[in-house]
Parts: sequence; structure tokens; C-alpha cells
Amino acid sequence: MAKSSKTFSCSACGASFNKWSGRCDGCGEWNSIVEDKGISAGPPSKSLGAKRGSSVQLTDLSTQEVPPPRKMSGIGELDRVLGGGLVAASAILVGGDPGIGKSTLLLQAAAHFAQKGLRTIYVSGEEASAQVRMRAQRLGLDQAPVKLAAETNLRDILTTLEVEKPDLAIIDSIQTMWADNVESAPGSVSQVRAAAHELTAFAKRRGVSVVLVGHVTKEGQIAGPRVVEHMVDTVLYFEGERGHQFRILRSVKNRFGPADEIGVFEMTGGGLAEVTNPSALFLSERGAPAAGSVVFAGIEGTRPVLVELQALVAPSPHSQARRTVVGWDGGRLAMILAVLEARCGIPFAGLDVYLNVAGGMKVSEPAADLAVAAALLSAREDVALPAETVVFGEISLSGALRPATQTENRLKEASKLGFTSAIAPAGGKTVGTSGLKLNTMSDLTGFVGEIFGAG
Ligand code: TYD
Ligand code: MG
Repeated sequence: MAKSSKTFSCSACGASFNKWSGRCDGCGEWNSIVEDKGISAGPPSKSLGAKRGSSVQLTDLSTQEVPPPRKMSGIGELDRVLGGGLVAASAILVGGDPGIGKSTLLLQAAAHFAQKGLRTIYVSGEEASAQVRMRAQRLGLDQAPVKLAAETNLRDILTTLEVEKPDLAIIDSIQTMWADNVESAPGSVSQVRAAAHELTAFAKRRGVSVVLVGHVTKEGQIAGPRVVEHMVDTVLYFEGERGHQFRILRSVKNRFGPADEIGVFEMTGGGLAEVTNPSALFLSERGAPAAGSVVFAGIEGTRPVLVELQALVAPSPHSQARRTVVGWDGGRLAMILAVLEARCGIPFAGLDVYLNVAGGMKVSEPAADLAVAAALLSAREDVALPAETVVFGEISLSGALRPATQTENRLKEASKLGFTSAIAPAGGKTVGTSGLKLNTMSDLTGFVGEIFGAG
């Protein structure tokens, strides 16, 4: 029997199917499955065995490779997140919630790269050119030699880019692009996938750096299929809480540099300003030592960052106690609570637990475990930790403390910011530590006994 060549995919989660149905098995969304037209157009491909391919040239692993040429924007926080500047012929996806400041960031980046001599084109599919110009004026960047277009037709955009041959093209946003060979609506999975594919292929073919802006869904994924993330070389997320002025640009994937690197910005009336010393900023609103407040000495990418963790523990009026986390992983919190209960005999049943990372920062390092445990205990016992102390270390399910990576860097940063002591797992590498009083422990029970005088 001839197999149907039609394929369908879910416009919510990107799962693909070979027949249509009303509800996606992948994510449970209704009416989200659409036919992938255009993508599979053309004659069915011949079996690979039918025709002989030509042989591919092989090289040795030891072949000398010149590092890719890079261009700096001069915005240090951006250049570092890119892995040390913009790589030619690379495709970069910048994702973030609507309104977080992606267009602002990329307009500033465009202007800076243009002023450094890169021929730069900014294509907005969301705003009229006049709006982009007004923003540029507000940012004082209207004299930068950036070429603007307000367009959503992918074919026209690609033709323009072929003609203009820029060094850098910014597409804001990938969800507004419309490929006329794909029948579904702009923003659908098929459209986003087709547009991303064409633009990344163009970047490689013509040696142009292409930046795609992508919106993030409420589930925290770049809307459209995950496959866009696989297509590009670099994926950056622009994060932050709406109510806070801090914005964090985080590399979650980078073929040309370290992932997990962060750049910190502050949203001001005049656009995004670089924050070169984020620890000082994250700790700037910290008051006198209080119960439930702990400073975690973290590492983001290659950089140490100190943040304040705040916990509140209170008797719960509900039959099911609440666990609320902002800026950290809820599952990890449940694990720490379970370890405290099972290994140290400190129950949290019947108590509401709230945990917050101050300043709108998101922490994902396991090394925050001990700081979280300290904040929880401090809140529960209503005892403040010793003043000017930083805490870090990973907690294992057995209650043992595991040394964190880059102990040295964490301690140096803490000392630089005026902290005088640190609580850390035993066994971390601490050669020549900068005058900080180091209090090392090997398990959680020891920590509880020493700091809170209980077991
Ligand atoms: P925008 O870059 O349009 O966000 P996105 O492209 O991610 O949707 O920025 C939106 C917010 O930033 C908007 O609420 C206004 C604020 N903003 C400032 O606070 N200062 C500025 O200089 C600019 C340009 C924007
Ligand atoms: Mg925008």
C-alpha cells in the first residue's frame, strides 16, 4: 500500500504525527494539529541505495583549525555571553518573554556593531520602521549606520539580504516571518521552522551573522518547535522579572563558547545599561542580617555571582502546606526539605515554605543547596546566620555535603564584596584563599549542629 506522504504537527509543542487528530497526544492541546504543507513538497525521495553518492573528503583530528573570526560590539556583557564576540556565519536565537527588552537589546547591539564597521540590517516584523526609529532616538542611537526594514515576507527579506550582503542581520521576530511556500499561518510551527531553516542556511551560505528573536511561551519555551534551538549555533535567553529592572542574558547553548555564561543589564529610561559588578547590585538592597536571609556564592558560567536567598517558613492554615519558589527549582526545594527531615529530623510538615531569589535572578546550580537549606533553617528557627557570611555546597540525598566547583572563585568574589566568612563543604580546592574565614563541614547534620546548635 502506498504510504501517505502527509505529515502533521502540533503548533503548541511541535510533536509530529502522520494523521490529523483533534487533540495532541504530546501536550494535550486541542485543535493545535495542522498539516505540514510545503515542507514535504516535491517528489518523494528515491531510496538511498538507488544512486551512488560521491565520496566525502576526510580529514585528521589533528588538522590545525583557525579560530573563527569574531567581532566585538563593545557591549562587554553581550560580547562575553556570545563567547567573546560575534562569530561570522553563525545563527543566534535570542528568546525571552514579550516586553522583557529583546528589541531594545538587539537595537542597541545593532547600533554598536554598525558603529564598529559591520554592515547591519535590522528587520522588524512586529513594529513599523517609525517605531523602531523612535526607539533609536530615545536610546540616542539614531545616528548609527543601521539599515531598517519593516517586513514579514521571508522571500523578500532573503532577496534583500542577498543583494545587500550585510555582515549582520537581525530578524525581530521569527514568529512574525511568513514563508509563502508554507501554507499555515505565521507563528505556526511549520512557518517558524521553515523561516528558521531558510535564515540559518542563508547565514552559513553567505557568511552573514543572523540573529533571530523568538518569543517564549508561558511554559518557558521558545514558541514553535524545539527544533529551532537545534538549528542555530547559539541560543540566548533574555530573562528577568517584569517588576525588577535587572535583565539577564544567558547562553543556554553555544557552539562557539561556553554555555551558562550570563550578562547582566539594567533596564533604564535610556535603554539597557551594562552591570559589570552584578554581585554588588544583587546585594545592594540587602538590609541587616535577618532570619531566612542567606547570601549564596554562586557561579554563572565563568563568573562568580553573589545573590541573596530569602526563605519564609510559617504554620500553614491549609490542610496541604504550600511550597512556593521564585528563581529556583521547585523539585530541588522538595528534595532539600526531604533531606532535612529524613537525615536531620527537622520536619516541615504543616509549615508553608516560601523561597525567593532576590533581584529577579534565576539560580540553577546544585551548589545552592546548602544556601537554601541554611535559609530554610534560619527562617524556621528564626535565627539569623552570622553576619557577612556566604554559603554554598551541594547536598546529596544521604545528607552528605559535596564540594562545589570553582570554590576559589566564589571565595574571592565574597572577599572582594566585604564578606568575612564562608560556610562550605569540606574538600573544596582552596589554595591561598583571600583572608576569608572558611568553615567547612562534611554533612548536613554537622552544619545544623554548628550553625543552629540543634540536631
Ligand atoms: P522591548 O524591547 O520592546 O521588549 P520585547 O522586544 O522583548 O518585547 O522592551 C519593552 C519594555 O522595555 C517596555 O515596557 C518599555 C521598556 N523600555 C525601557 O524601560 N527603557 C527604554 O529605553 C526602552 C527602549 C524600553
Ligand atoms: Mg520586540
